Amino acid sequence: MSGLKILVLHGPNLNLLGDREPDQYGNFTLDQINKALEERGLGLQAEVVCFQSNHEGVLVDRIQEAAHQYHGILINPAALTHYSYALRDALAACRLPLVEVHLSNIFAREPFRRHSVISAVAGGVICGLGPDSYVLGLEALIGLIGKVREE
Ligand code: DQA
Repeated sequence: MSGLKILVLHGPNLNLLGDREPDQYGNFTLDQINKALEERGLGLQAEVVCFQSNHEGVLVDRIQEAAHQYHGILINPAALTHYSYALRDALAACRLPLVEVHLSNIFAREPFRRHSVISAVAGGVICGLGPDSYVLGLEALIGLIGKVREE
């Protein structure tokens, strides 16, 4: 499938990757993750646009704008995963194929991280594989878009 446009959204504090809790999140920077996604996107003939914000409303605005500009969304909602109904509603409303990713295995961490309010509106979730979660998530999202188009 060619000519796809994918929006990658990163939530709060992911701009600090590389410096932030390296035992938990590794030494990769967000820039490195974005570059890996852009490269993998090229291989899959998809244009990947990456965006990070520390602000819930900014992410909601971006999702609302995405509806007619992108074919799918890959998101690491970061801490918003666990409580943001606003983000979940925006993702449901935009109706784009969605894959949720996390660097860490959220099910092996503190109890508050074990629940995602986003997963119910996602086509799939990948977590615990570090930066590979994102790359695998991108591949899965492109597969999902293909399936939706066939329906
Ligand atoms: C995270 C997990 C969240 O619980 C946390 O708040 C993050 C990062 C992850 O990628 O592992 O900021 O989404």
